[in-house]
Amino acid sequence: MKYRLKTDVLVIGSGVAGCTAAITAAKQGKHVTLITKTSDPMESNTRYAQGGIVVLGNKDSNELLYNDIMKAGDGISNPEAVRIVVEEGPKLVYDFLINEIGVEFSKNEDGNFNLTKEAAHSTSRILHYYDMTGLEIERKLLDKIKEIKNIDLLTNFTAIDLITTHHNTINPLLKYKKNLCLGAYALDNIKGDVYTILADATVVATGGVGRLYQYTTNPDVATGDGISMSYRAGAEVTNMEFVQFHPTVFYTGEGKGFLISESLRGEGAKLINKYGEAFMEKYSPEWKDLAPRDEVTRAIYNEMALTESKFVYLDIANFHNKDISIAKRFPGIYNECLKYKIDIENEPIPVVPAEHYFCGGILINNQAETTLPGLYAVGEASCSGLHGANRLASVSLLEGVVYGKRAGIYATRVEKKSDYFSDITDWVFPKDESKSGNDPLLVFQDWTNLRTTMWNYVGIIRTKTRLTRAVSDLRNLYNRITDYYRNTNLTKPKVELRNGIIVAVLIAEFARRNNKSQGCHYVKEED
Ligand code: SIN
Repeated sequence: MKYRLKTDVLVIGSGVAGCTAAITAAKQGKHVTLITKTSDPMESNTRYAQGGIVVLGNKDSNELLYNDIMKAGDGISNPEAVRIVVEEGPKLVYDFLINEIGVEFSKNEDGNFNLTKEAAHSTSRILHYYDMTGLEIERKLLDKIKEIKNIDLLTNFTAIDLITTHHNTINPLLKYKKNLCLGAYALDNIKGDVYTILADATVVATGGVGRLYQYTTNPDVATGDGISMSYRAGAEVTNMEFVQFHPTVFYTGEGKGFLISESLRGEGAKLINKYGEAFMEKYSPEWKDLAPRDEVTRAIYNEMALTESKFVYLDIANFHNKDISIAKRFPGIYNECLKYKIDIENEPIPVVPAEHYFCGGILINNQAETTLPGLYAVGEASCSGLHGANRLASVSLLEGVVYGKRAGIYATRVEKKSDYFSDITDWVFPKDESKSGNDPLLVFQDWTNLRTTMWNYVGIIRTKTRLTRAVSDLRNLYNRITDYYRNTNLTKPKVELRNGIIVAVLIAEFARRNNKSQGCHYVKEED
């Protein structure tokens, strides 16, 4: 009993979507337990979002925004989800983020909000806080959460598996009824104890999958945990082949670069090759440097091949809107680049594409409910169909707020599940006591294999042969990792690796089965 907790709503993940869901559910008078696997709850994809959040611009309309999102989604966005986000999102930014939570956004000298532009937006409609929008939103949401008495925030708690009536009960008759989610088992990273957290509703808000790729804009936390857990528990996942690559990430020559926001191009910056030639007009005469992300990414990829270069340049020094001060508008990027001795006010920035955002995930309906009753999913881990085959810039934070809010409301309306709780078993350690198996090099090498396979075979340019190889290699790796997971101590890195390989196999399998190039899933014909 010592390690058994009961709560009304369990939220897993502390980014914009998870925090919004937690605050909303708490406001309905429910007890909320919010867990995050990190020691610092700020550490989420939200914290690293630079560009901004979409509202309506000065000469804008719901229709225009709706059309831009649909166009980016390349024919497979869910019209209902797009309509919901367009109609509710901008209002929530003002009512919830600004007025209730106290989030600040950059203003012009006249006191009005500064609206910026990003790729494939037909007008300037993006609110931002310098180039640190996600940081500001995340900080203010967590400040609010700490003030709310009926939210328990547990850091250093890694969710291991969702608890369901089909998998974790001593009552054999429950398998004849519909499977229900009743919470999650979570590892206390520090002490090694596993908690049984029982809940009427569980909200997965664990973010994306960037760390399954060799190069990514995502922090270390993005290992696809919630998607993997939900899939294992029986929830449907969808659109798994649609992995978005961001065109401009600082090139360091090593694995870890950092995002160079699209809003630099919104302020006039141009992509140039090593000969100083601006090249986007050649690839997208209509949008040029502000073409949709997948087009810019493939153009860069091609230009790197043509010029035999490891990167191209983004030049804001020579091509910015003259009314901005580069260092003041982009202080985060300016200072980060200076660490690598690049002064962006005077010289171009070396950039390459990298994995950025996952458009697929756990299938949800308009109420953020998954196909597993009792389980909700929000943010990057979920798939409402909003993004279709490709996400429009600065719509992700917006989606997090809209669906976070919806999950927070609907998760508090579910039927009580306490009748089932007494039949739920505590966690059974899979470990075979004869093997301790804590060799970090094994985990490191498995991640290296996984990430290079995903980057080379399930990356920006895919082919049938590459995808077929990826599925086979990843399945072998899956067998090895599963064996290792089952037979050695439970640790956070092993939980993440197991989640990562399951999601990697799913992405590769979905990609292999879909021959049609669409949005960010691009399959090249082979000779
Ligand atoms: C960026 O600032 O370029 C990223 C914004 C986004 O992913 O929407």
